[in-house]
Amino acid sequence: MLSGKHLLGLEQAKKSDIEIILDTADSFKEIIDRDVKKVPTLRGKSVVNLFYEPSTRTRTSFELAGKYLSADTINFASSGSSVQKGETLKDTAKTLEMMGVDAVVIRHSSSGAANYLCNHINASIINAGDGTHEHPTQALLDMLTVRERKGTLSGLKVAIFGDILHSRVARSNIFGFTKMGSEVFVAGPSTLMPVDIEKTGAKLAKTIDEAIKDADVVIALRIQLERQQNGLFPTVREYAKFFGLDRDKLALAKPDALLLHPGPVNRGVELTSEVIDGNQSVINYQVKSGVAVRMAVLYHLIGGSR
Ligand code: CP
Repeated sequence: MLSGKHLLGLEQAKKSDIEIILDTADSFKEIIDRDVKKVPTLRGKSVVNLFYEPSTRTRTSFELAGKYLSADTINFASSGSSVQKGETLKDTAKTLEMMGVDAVVIRHSSSGAANYLCNHINASIINAGDGTHEHPTQALLDMLTVRERKGTLSGLKVAIFGDILHSRVARSNIFGFTKMGSEVFVAGPSTLMPVDIEKTGAKLAKTIDEAIKDADVVIALRIQLERQQNGLFPTVREYAKFFGLDRDKLALAKPDALLLHPGPVNRGVELTSEVIDGNQSVINYQVKSGVAVRMAVLYHLIGGSR
């Protein structure tokens, strides 16, 4: 990842690269707490956030990360742009490249969209979520959040539950946490579980209770209603009853277990409000880690360390 100029996913990433990003992000967290949140590290660099899908956390934190490092950041949403007149992804990206951008942060509904752009433009490409493939900066910020509280990622039991089938967050987290020495268990409705999930390095638990039992880290996933095909689960209410996490289920994990969710949360579906706002939840801290991780990624891909 650091030997190239792109961040496309964690499947091919080296453990040492993940460690460098997390260490750099750790040091950048201090900048976010300053009164004047600005260092000159990326002065003269430009970053475009090219988002074909909605986002609050990822797009805003990439924008702030670039700004805190003094890069010029531009947000590009497909709605209101020439994409609506039929311009292709390649032509749109090429147009932005000719304006001199150093990095393109892309979110797209098609798996492989970020990889595709690498072959067509010279800027650094950062995958901010592509279809059901990967969301690498989400996993990096999840790992940063956990490492900060547990001191290590090695030897932890991590339970990921919910809609694994459609989750790029789950895939990136499985690749990331297993590389760092955690044992990752996944659970969810069988209709929302890829048949070859264990090829990713995760262990398939028969039930959510089995996955969560004695876990150090519990990661809940959002039900991605925008990607559902008919018939994968009967109703949201039924899903919440059988696969949602409440205080009693969370009590199966270790008493000091951390609860994560990438957001946005469907309150009352994958998690009850009681556990979202409870003292084991680090969902709000994940957001702060997101800015620090994205600062680290921009720094390593287009900044001083190159
Ligand atoms: N976790 C995440 O990617 O959130 P957004 O869709 O708000 O960016």
